[in-house]
Amino acid sequence: MNYPIWQLGFPGGLLIATVAVLHVFVSHFAVGGGAYLVLTERKAYRNNDRELLNYARAHAKFFALLTLVFGAVTGVGIWFSIGLVSPDATSTLIHTFVWGWAMEWVFFFVEITAALVYAYQWDRLDRASHQAVGWIYFVAAWASLAIINGIVTFMLTPGRWLETRNFWDGFFNPTYFPSLAIRTAMAVALAGMFGLVSTLQLRGGIRERVARWSGAWVVVGIVFLPLFGLWYYRAFPGFARRYLAGGISAAGTAVNLAIAAAALALVVTALAALWKPRALNGAVVALVLLSGLATLGSGEYLRELVRKPWVIGGYLYANGIRADALKQISATGVSADSRWLAAKPAADSLAYGREIFVLECSACHSVGGYRALRARVRGWDEHFAYQALPHLQLMRGTMPPFAGNETDRAALAKYLASLNPATVSISPANQVAAGREVFEIHCAACHTVRGAFRPLNLAAMKAGAIDRLLKILPALNPNMPPFTGSEAERRALARFLETGQPTS
Ligand code: HEC
Ligand code: HEC
Repeated sequence: MNYPIWQLGFPGGLLIATVAVLHVFVSHFAVGGGAYLVLTERKAYRNNDRELLNYARAHAKFFALLTLVFGAVTGVGIWFSIGLVSPDATSTLIHTFVWGWAMEWVFFFVEITAALVYAYQWDRLDRASHQAVGWIYFVAAWASLAIINGIVTFMLTPGRWLETRNFWDGFFNPTYFPSLAIRTAMAVALAGMFGLVSTLQLRGGIRERVARWSGAWVVVGIVFLPLFGLWYYRAFPGFARRYLAGGISAAGTAVNLAIAAAALALVVTALAALWKPRALNGAVVALVLLSGLATLGSGEYLRELVRKPWVIGGYLYANGIRADALKQISATGVSADSRWLAAKPAADSLAYGREIFVLECSACHSVGGYRALRARVRGWDEHFAYQALPHLQLMRGTMPPFAGNETDRAALAKYLASLNPATVSISPANQVAAGREVFEIHCAACHTVRGAFRPLNLAAMKAGAIDRLLKILPALNPNMPPFTGSEAERRALARFLETGQPTS
């Protein structure tokens, strides 16, 4: 907690994701497009195809403009946004990989120089030298991908770095190679997709030749994705694999979206570029491009999602708290660790509770907007919130443990309880319905009744026995907070659980 929190009104991860997905889209094109250009040029010379050569020339200018300008602007945008949203993580990455960034910078420099020479000095160079410049471009671009890949995969699986703090252990981490393979395949597919964009300016036979050639790149790239995807998945840490196996529904949705989008791009390209290139028009190309963006976007989203609650696996939580600082913060309190608190620490201060929320929760929750806490703490009273906070990591979702001392915990509990108070009205006639509401407030964060998430099924027991159980929950399992509701609420809950009615 060395930095102030940049409050956007929504979790900053969304901002990073938007900038990063656009950047990744264009920068993967920048890698694959290099090889595409030189191989197109070579093909044109071999077949003595002047039209194809002219196409390559025009495409090279489009390529240089798009990748250099857009790539540079969004690349700086990523640094700007991660620096503000996740300063602790950014600082760790800079400290750990300073020589990695330096190497990347050198490759980037070679890359832009070669791209400009390739696109704008076509006539001054002989064929062989010109193609050599193209290859220099491609090798430098791929090398900078290979370096960034080491740093990005490090965040998901830092591997042995956690013990050794060694640069190469962090860099060549367990997901390094599968991720590099997927990204390379994606770069090939994107090179073809942007090749299709440039065909739109062509007329006649050349348009079909280029459509077939570019379409082949798309197909080859996409065909390798499932294979590399599986390899990647196998290298994931166990918790991340559990998310994908159904632990978080958003993860399943993202996998399905990635598969559907890649399949759509494959089928449309096969039909409209390989089989009937005459059918290729602006709308079809836009569809292929959008599918490519959706494939890549869901892949990146997944990578971020399955890493939660960490921003650097096993080392730094998504809210900027280091795993090895938890003990210290619990002993001395958040106020001793954070220099940026605006409110004075006091157990009964709402303002201080809000500060703790901002520090520890706002990386993933807003109050009333995205993943709103107000909706998620409905009915929580101070006592329940206080008892529940030490068990955050057991609730649905992917939350870091609460960090703080008694004062911090009490103040945050007070703040959470203030967000959405609700009382359950209980009458002899509505016991079961009221009991369901009590369940939603006191148990649903960690349980379902006969559902998918930590299911309970107490239907074999009588309400009286369940009621006795409810009085001793922490004795059943120390990871469970005590029941903090009133006696009437407890009895209604027992009646509800006795029915065995399912919840989701
Ligand atoms: C902060 C999370 C949390 C809350 C809130 C919570 N539980 Fe639990 N509960 C657990 C954990 C963890 C276990 C251990 C079993 C497991 O890990 O699957 C457990 C186990 C149980 C068990 C033991 C039976 C079994 O299948 O192992 C019962 C009964 C139970 N809970 C009932 C309740 C009821 C009723 C409520 C609401 C009043 C509640 N729990 C609230 C986390 C919680
Ligand atoms: C790393 C991200 C992250 C952080 C940090 C985080 N949460 Fe969450 N939280 C989640 C996710 C993901 C869910 C589950 C998905 C959902 O409910 O949309 C969730 C769900 C919840 C729920 C609802 C549980 C349920 O299903 O009823 C509560 C309550 C909650 N969080 C409280 C907090 C509090 C309090 C903090 C700060 C001390 C916090 N969270 C910090 C990601 C986070």
